Amino acid sequence: MTIKIGDTIPSLDLFVMGEDGGPQAISTDELFKDKVVALFGLPGAFTPTCSASHLPGYVQHADALREKGVDDIICISVNDAFVMTAWGMDQNVEGRVRMVADGSALFAKATGLELDLTERGLGMRSQRFSMIVENGVVKDIATEDPPTAEATGAEAMLDKIAAA
Ligand code: BEZ
Repeated sequence: MTIKIGDTIPSLDLFVMGEDGGPQAISTDELFKDKVVALFGLPGAFTPTCSASHLPGYVQHADALREKGVDDIICISVNDAFVMTAWGMDQNVEGRVRMVADGSALFAKATGLELDLTERGLGMRSQRFSMIVENGVVKDIATEDPPTAEATGAEAMLDKIAAA
C-alpha cells in the first residue's frame, strides 16, 4: 500500500556521506523529527529528467521553500551514498538540498513507492514523488511517471505551500 496523507514516515535507516568518507546511517526519525521537510524522490541519480529538471528545480527554489517555512529539503534515491554525494556535487547543491541514499530500497518498499525498472536495466528503484512532511507526518504527496517532473517539482510544491 502506498503511503498517504496523514501517515507517518516509516522508521528505518537511510544513508548520508559520513565525515570519514564512507556511508553513515541516519534514521528517518532523526531526519524528520520536529521539522517541516520538503522530500522528493526519483528513479535515479544522473538519469536525464532527474538531472535536467527534478533536482535542479529544488536547488533553484531552495531559498523560496525555506522562506515558506521549510526547514530541510531532502532528495532520496535508490542509489548509494557515494553516488548521491557525487551527484550533489555535480549539481552544486551546496547545502541547499540534503542528498540521502536509499541504497537497498528500504524506504521505497516501506512506503509502497518502489518502481521496478528491471526491464531498463536499473533494477528496483523509486517512483518519482514529492512529499511535505511535518514532524514525520505526511501532509501532502504527489507522484508521477517518468519522464516528467512537474507535479512533483519544486514549483508545484511552492504553489501548494502558498495555497495551504
Ligand atoms: C529519467 O530521465 O528520469 C529516467 C530515465 C530512465 C529511467 C529512469 C528515469
